[in-house]
Amino acid sequence: MKKQLLAVACLGLSFVGNAQNTATLQADSGKVTINKHIYGHFAEHLGTCIYGGFYVGENNTKIPNKDGVRLDIVDALKKLKIPNLRWPGGCFADTYHWKDGIGPKAQRPAMVNTWWGGVTEDNSFGTHDFLNMCELLGTEPYISGNVGSGTVQELKDWTQYINLAAGTSPMSKLREQNGREKPWNVAIWGVGNEAWGCGGNMTADYYANIYRQYATFMAGADKKGLFRVASGASDADYKWTETLMKNIPHQMLEGVAIHHYSVLSWGEGKKTSATEYTDKEYFKTMQQALLMDELVTKHSEVMDKYDPKKKVALVVDEWGGWYNVENGTNPGFLFQQNTMRDAMIAGATLNIFNNHADRVRMANLAQVVNVLQAVILTKEEKMLLTPTYHVMEMYNVHQDATLLPIKVKTNTFEFEGEKLPAVSVSASKDAKGLTHISLTNVDPKNPQEITIDLKGAKYVSVAGRILTAEKLRDYNTFDNPNKIQPKAFSGATIAGNQLKVKLPAFSVAVLELK
Ligand code: AHR
Repeated sequence: MKKQLLAVACLGLSFVGNAQNTATLQADSGKVTINKHIYGHFAEHLGTCIYGGFYVGENNTKIPNKDGVRLDIVDALKKLKIPNLRWPGGCFADTYHWKDGIGPKAQRPAMVNTWWGGVTEDNSFGTHDFLNMCELLGTEPYISGNVGSGTVQELKDWTQYINLAAGTSPMSKLREQNGREKPWNVAIWGVGNEAWGCGGNMTADYYANIYRQYATFMAGADKKGLFRVASGASDADYKWTETLMKNIPHQMLEGVAIHHYSVLSWGEGKKTSATEYTDKEYFKTMQQALLMDELVTKHSEVMDKYDPKKKVALVVDEWGGWYNVENGTNPGFLFQQNTMRDAMIAGATLNIFNNHADRVRMANLAQVVNVLQAVILTKEEKMLLTPTYHVMEMYNVHQDATLLPIKVKTNTFEFEGEKLPAVSVSASKDAKGLTHISLTNVDPKNPQEITIDLKGAKYVSVAGRILTAEKLRDYNTFDNPNKIQPKAFSGATIAGNQLKVKLPAFSVAVLELK
């Protein structure tokens, strides 16, 4: 209970029983840009994210593809405007040797994917496949280097292979031999992943030293320079962040990661069902999701101590709901369905990130296709967009917009004596001068009405879209893929300088004000 009150206080919200929800928007006080990279995604060599997910093979005649990459997925991700895609892991990254994934596919060596299901990885999807796919998607690649079982030389070579101009090094020559003349100029690199766990079980001090060594030899992207992300803390391990911020010179550090999943227990089969969760499990999952506010607040405070000018970004490069796998699927593949609970996690989490945009400048939902809180699920030729997809799509209006301060007083969503804030909100103004407000009501039973005082601008009209469903546990299926999708929203009205919004229970709305 104590922990919850703390989490709630850190959300910067106060509670007013069952009174009206209220908020004040300062439309003329925006100073911070919501970095589009907050809306990033993650593709690991895990289960059917890549193989059988977006990569169906060059010889596939049933599913339209370009170089083996499904075109329906490309189309859907383009609509989402995904700003970056993290690859090849995750835990897999620290087992991955990139040279195994270049050159003629038939000659590539195989390996065992030891973290995820013990399956054979034939390396048919490698560096060229990934980077060409990013070009097709119009997204920036975010590559996680192998620190746990690789070498400094190996990561140095990889950065040179990808980033150096043609003819300038043995690595760029090798790239040319493999059919690519121009460098890809990849700026965003992770220096290992979860170094405290699957990335090598290192101590923070040891990793900070190793980071310095690896970061020294990485080759920059033309003009852009490198954006190097240190493998960060799990959840509330503030000591880890402190050690990195203290011991790594900031001129060789652009981002520090953290990972936080909305999970109730880590034991296999001991999480909640993705679709048949109890009311209590719903509450507890939301408690975990909303804890993100406390986590980014406190990690930011630690960073502020060493970097008051906020040069180093906080990068939440793994977040999302983690449940039991679907019955009959490989436990190592982490395939789970996606209900309105996931839409609630996405809406509330993205509001948190937006409102912390001064320090949180990048994030990656885990994961993009068929794994954990995926935005897309596939079954052979069929593909569906999950409720999480729709939230990410509705919220993409905030990408690179100016964050507008908004103070909220919200009712609580209560369960067995514990409380969570019901409504979360964030707002921004885009380059065209349009104001967008995103609102999430995580209360599964009660609609919430909110009155927002609009200060510093005169608005005359409001329009928007809403995502909700008949039941909280509803989800899209391959037979009924459009059961849940955004609809036009008529529950918002402007009168003078007041905006009134009627949010149904478990709903996400994004409004546009003119
Ligand atoms: O996203 C699944 C796994 O979760 C990643 O591989 C790892 O980094 C984390 O523990």
